Amino acid sequence: MHSASPETPGLATAGARSPAVATNNGAIFTGDTTIQAPLVLPAPADVPAPHGMHNLPRPVGHRFVGRSAEMATLEEALGPRNERAATHVVTQAMSGLGGIGKSTLALHFAHTHRTGYTAVWWIDAETPETIAGSLAQLTIRAHPGTNTSGVPSAVLAEWALAWLDSHPGWLLVFDNATHPDHLAPYLARLTSGDHLITSRLTYGWHDLAATPLHLDVLTPTAATSLLYQLTGSDPSSEATAAQELADELGYLPLALEQAGAYIRRTRNTYSAYLHRLRTQTARMLNTPGNGDPHSITIARTWSVTLDTIAERDPLAVHLLRVMAWLAPHDIPRDLLKGIADEPDADTDALALLNDFSMITLTESTTAVHRLVQALARTPDPKDPHRSDTAISQAQSTAATLIQDALPDDPETSTAGWPRWRTLLPHIDAYLTHTHPETDTAETDGILYSASQFLRGQGQLSQATQYAQRSVTTSARLNGEDHPDTLISRNHLASAYESAGDLGRAIP
Ligand SMILES: Nc1ncnc2c1ncn2[C@@H]1O[C@H](COP(=O)(O)OP(=O)(O)OP(=O)(O)O)[C@@H](O)[C@H]1O
Ligand SMILES: [Mg+2]
Repeated sequence: MHSASPETPGLATAGARSPAVATNNGAIFTGDTTIQAPLVLPAPADVPAPHGMHNLPRPVGHRFVGRSAEMATLEEALGPRNERAATHVVTQAMSGLGGIGKSTLALHFAHTHRTGYTAVWWIDAETPETIAGSLAQLTIRAHPGTNTSGVPSAVLAEWALAWLDSHPGWLLVFDNATHPDHLAPYLARLTSGDHLITSRLTYGWHDLAATPLHLDVLTPTAATSLLYQLTGSDPSSEATAAQELADELGYLPLALEQAGAYIRRTRNTYSAYLHRLRTQTARMLNTPGNGDPHSITIARTWSVTLDTIAERDPLAVHLLRVMAWLAPHDIPRDLLKGIADEPDADTDALALLNDFSMITLTESTTAVHRLVQALARTPDPKDPHRSDTAISQAQSTAATLIQDALPDDPETSTAGWPRWRTLLPHIDAYLTHTHPETDTAETDGILYSASQFLRGQGQLSQATQYAQRSVTTSARLNGEDHPDTLISRNHLASAYESAGDLGRAIP
């Protein structure tokens, strides 16, 4: 039932506690109480846009690298110069993995074109409350010298919307949106400006915006140049190590920044950092570069997203941990089919991971950033998603999935060869990430079959390497004289023979 405000005739709420805003006088009636602010805000249309009004959180500065293609895409869709902002509303969403550089690109775009817009307003879009709070700040900015402290945020936000409506040609950046529904009311209401949305979410934007721009990692050149700028070190002295480090960090801006700041602060070398990253992965990904323990780190950035994903479907997080043992790219989706008994549970889990940009999904393959993998392979007792048990289970599931996918008769059955070729990078990754001393019977099976396939293909160096590891594993698990060990040894001898190493071709 609608209830009338005792102090403002004609003002009613849609129900108890739903706010109704009186015309610009700062009164809000919540159904059972009226808060009367002693302030009358002028009509929004009468308040001119202060010259160059913006609230951009920081300058992007000289450190901004790369992204020229992405800037061009944004400029094609948005921008004051195309004059659409004055008469239409254009909405562009940008999605991508945490730390990939969405907010930084939005900030760079906003700074570059700031002077062409009536106003540029940065909105913390994490929750409906933060959105209203950011809009309220616009009203406060538009009334310098006025004490607005007694006016509720909802009233201030409402005034901001009315002001935007009467001053076309603005840019609103909704940063870090966590649900399209939080934005929909604003996007529907405002009709004459540009909206730029950043979000880790890949889904839900098609209904609100033009095709979302999905951000990928930096190019190798841009990534190395960012490292040089961050460390301030002479590029010529350690160029190869810097490139190797950028590669190991998967060209991910947040990781490069964390590493660069750490190297600069500790006066370390690129190679020393690389060594520590490889030997103490979890620690380095969780160490803020600037030494401030509250600073955001790669590990923390992703664990928040994983919390949300785990709440919706724990299988998705398990699946991510399983993928961590495979190669980062071109993981065949059918390899992951056996992850759950329920039909299509794998499809749902993959879709969820893709929704939050933790993986990249195509019809037949999936890809995971190599640092996400590195983190998901490394136990951390403080991280609920990376317990020792969960990680060992994922490793063993990865081995089972690989073994179940191996075609029979690797040396002779040519029909299975294409499948072998798609599986080999994942077998190789699995064997690289696992220690020979912990190889199981399942791993031995993979080693033996892969070695047979490689020998048949003439890839003899790798064939002998796998065969050797298979012999060692079988001897450790079954004993030196066990028939399986003898078969492996025999196979190793024939691999050496094929390689022309006759000295070692005796089993
Ligand atoms: N093009 C770039 N040039 C230089 N530094 C960059 C670039 N892109 C990102 N960075 C740096 O990398 C870090 C992470 O970037 P940013 O915060 O923009 O990521 P994000 O995608 O918005 O992440 P999140 O999803 O956590 O909000 C920032 O500290 C930023 O300074
Ligand atoms: Mg961001």
